[in-house]
Amino acid sequence: MCGIFAYMNYRVPRTRKEIFETLIKGLQRLEYRGYDSAGVAIDGNNNEVKERHIQLVKKRGNVKALDEELYKQDSMDLQVEFETHFGIAHTRWATHGVPNAVNSHPQRSDKGNEFVVIHNGIITNYKDLRKFLESKGYEFESETDTETIAKLIKYVFDNRETEDITFSTLVERVIQQLEGAFALVFKSIHYPGEAVATRRGSPLLIGVRSKYKLSTEQIPVLYRTRNIENVKNICKTRMKRLDSSTCLHAVGDKAVEFFFASDASAIIEHTNRVIFLEDDDIAAVADGKLSIHRVKRLASDDPSRAIQTLQMELQQIMKGNFSAFMQKEIFEQPESVFNTMRGRVNFETNTVLLGGLKDHLKEIRRCRRLIVIGCGTSYHAAVATRQVLEELTELPVMVELASDFLDRNTPVFRDDVCFFISQSGETADTLLALRYCKDRRALTVGVTNTVGSSISRETDCGVHINAGPEIGVASTKAYTSQFISLVMFGLMMSEDRISLQNRRREIIHGLKSLPELIKEVLSLDEKIHDLAVELYTQRSLLVMGRGYNYATCLEGALEEIEPPKNSPCSRLHGRSDQPKIQTQKIKEITYMHSEGILAGELKHGPLALIDKQMPVIMVIMKDPCFAKCQNALQQVTARQGRPIILCSKDDTESSKFAYKTIELPHTVDCLQGILSVIPLQLLSFHLAVLRGYDVDFPRNLAKSVTVE
Ligand code: F6R
Repeated sequence: MCGIFAYMNYRVPRTRKEIFETLIKGLQRLEYRGYDSAGVAIDGNNNEVKERHIQLVKKRGNVKALDEELYKQDSMDLQVEFETHFGIAHTRWATHGVPNAVNSHPQRSDKGNEFVVIHNGIITNYKDLRKFLESKGYEFESETDTETIAKLIKYVFDNRETEDITFSTLVERVIQQLEGAFALVFKSIHYPGEAVATRRGSPLLIGVRSKYKLSTEQIPVLYRTRNIENVKNICKTRMKRLDSSTCLHAVGDKAVEFFFASDASAIIEHTNRVIFLEDDDIAAVADGKLSIHRVKRLASDDPSRAIQTLQMELQQIMKGNFSAFMQKEIFEQPESVFNTMRGRVNFETNTVLLGGLKDHLKEIRRCRRLIVIGCGTSYHAAVATRQVLEELTELPVMVELASDFLDRNTPVFRDDVCFFISQSGETADTLLALRYCKDRRALTVGVTNTVGSSISRETDCGVHINAGPEIGVASTKAYTSQFISLVMFGLMMSEDRISLQNRRREIIHGLKSLPELIKEVLSLDEKIHDLAVELYTQRSLLVMGRGYNYATCLEGALEEIEPPKNSPCSRLHGRSDQPKIQTQKIKEITYMHSEGILAGELKHGPLALIDKQMPVIMVIMKDPCFAKCQNALQQVTARQGRPIILCSKDDTESSKFAYKTIELPHTVDCLQGILSVIPLQLLSFHLAVLRGYDVDFPRNLAKSVTVE
């Protein structure tokens, strides 16, 4: 929901301007997680560490607005140099309290900014905590749950029983009182040049950069007891040990920089050496040394955190020559689907090997049923592949929206196999559904695009879809790669089914030609743009299909946008308060009303919407549902509907009744959805641009939904 970024330079001199630039760039990389307000906390002008106070700059709007605000601050000398400095920054997507400067982060403990904190997640017991703190005389200024954390740490500090309490001990005590989800980074005037970060349920990682060799590649985790009486002594002895050998630090002059972020896209341009924190880890940097503590040890705990080397490259996360990440990601699909299959599908031997699942195959084959769970687009990938999974695995397949699955307390058994589909690997509903299934001892399988994400770490096994980073809020290439990953799983499951060999060969052959066929579909971009020019002033758009292409309709309808005041669209309507139009890819980024309709349900209700004004897109492919789709087409044209038909190149029958056609190359029926969704992705993109919207940052939506 929100993006956290923090930067510490330890014995690496940096001017304030350089520090600003690093913080702003970090936030810009995370803007897809939320963008209604932003803020930073940095040190005041004095470059003597002990004398510094904290300055907060916060602004409603996107990161660019914050950047402009920073340079307006007369009191800040941009050239002042800090040998050691710790700055924290945040981009917000409001959950508690409207987007404004006061509600944005960092939140502070008091007017003197003694403690400041940035937060991603939701604190569910904040009202009780706030009541308690107010009863102790702490005055609140914002409507946020986060401010409770800032006040709580000051309360713990004000009531400390010993003067030499460490910053991480304070944080440890604070998080013991918190319920809900959080990733937090703290800064304090009482601990200048120190940083403390922690997480529970929200992602957080730390990048390390040093020109010197690091003293360790594994950071041992230090455990403390819950017994507060003993904490002081234990801390003393353990911290001593920790200082001498177990902390991460550089040798030589020990110059080192640390980057804290919600995800790797904000860190990768500085360093590819990162540590993923686990739930309840408390990471502290003092004197340039990083240590990790936990309150108690669980049997399953890994006793250390490895410094991992990320393979992701910066150019992978930049826009390149495209006007928006969404457009870039749509056009990357020939490559991203190839990467999903690379090293896994052997086109010579017609075999598929998913390394992350091979050891669990026997167990999966014996299971009672497959339950495939996700949200939004990831759920649509499950809908799209359900039929082929049923065919290839010969198992019952349930597809579930994570939130609904949890609301129903769905029965889950230990011989179920549960798949969790998630691009980010951090979606709260999906993660909660995963924990629910784990509690019931089902085998859990992650299908994610994010190495090191919570879902990939918490599942028993999984598949990484290898689509590359997806930055645009509207998911595009992740969908096609999720689709292929699930088909590959089906193929792997059916390897020794004699009766399915011809079908397997057909599908594998289809997979091989997909990248080329996707390129062919992408070459229709201009035609689709022209169609968008015709449609962008419309208020509604229906997308209809059935069978293998029903998911395309759901997914196509997902992304829409509302015209801002001076967009060509609002000018055309002559007023800016036009009621909104909607569909899914269409709904999400164009804010048009849009619906994906199962053609089989047409006569049970949606037919009432059809007239000559209502734009209808029909997906009609040469597959087993072709004849039934022709019936739907007749019903639409009989009501003077003017269907725009996505059909196969050789389909002369459907085109006779079409107002317009978009002709697609033909592939195997169960893979056709990969080709048919792309024109709808392109259409949504062009509609959104024509309606004057920010395609990558649709209002009210965030890339990674880490709250329920
Ligand atoms: C739509 C979209 C969302 C996500 C959903 C789940 O374009 O991006 O519907 O698909 O929020 O996100 P992940 O896949 O990260 O779990």
